[in-house]
Amino acid sequence: MAARGRRVVLGVTGSIAAYKACEVVRGLLKAGCEVRCVLTPAGAQFVTPMSLAALSRNPVAQNLHDPALWEMAHLSLASWAQLVMIAPATADFIARLAHGRAEGLLDALVLSTRAPVAVCPAMDAEMWEHPATKANAARLKDLGYRVWGPDKGELASGKVGWGRLLEPGEIVKRCLAAK
Ligand SMILES: Cc1cc2nc3c(=O)[nH]c(=O)nc-3n(C[C@H](O)[C@H](O)[C@H](O)COP(=O)(O)O)c2cc1C
Repeated sequence: MAARGRRVVLGVTGSIAAYKACEVVRGLLKAGCEVRCVLTPAGAQFVTPMSLAALSRNPVAQNLHDPALWEMAHLSLASWAQLVMIAPATADFIARLAHGRAEGLLDALVLSTRAPVAVCPAMDAEMWEHPATKANAARLKDLGYRVWGPDKGELASGKVGWGRLLEPGEIVKRCLAAK
């Protein structure tokens, strides 16, 4: 799949690292990709839909049950995407994916798509190292999702450990290289 013109759905969930999604969008656009962002309600507490819309030059989808949309956004975006990437992905979102949940737009979209799905975790080290999160991340790999990161480094809490979102440039690079 050529990088130029690649259609990427970027899901942004409620992590303190959500602001870095703006850099990911910029990098993908610079590389010639088309990007459509989907925000969870918690994600919208950390980064505004306006920023993501302006940077991606596309509307941002947020609601699964939106009476203004005659088209079902989770299905239309799921079939539009050539790659679905969730960056950052919270512990809760990873748990929902591991269990095939579909109560939110982004959750339902991931279940509906046949495009490759990449998940970039971001959380505090204790959350990442919890056996429940470890088991959920392993389950994602079993289900065929790619799990990119996390990195070890300085975390929002000030501690150093595993759980840091991959650098935006690295996420873009993996996205462009993804088959
Ligand atoms: C200030 C703050 C920062 C947070 N950062 C993270 C984070 O980096 N990773 C994470 O897994 N959860 C984090 N959370 C918790 C999530 O926001 C919470 O689990 C939320 O329900 C996730 O929803 P979503 O996965 O639907 O976006 C944070 C919460 C707060 C209040």
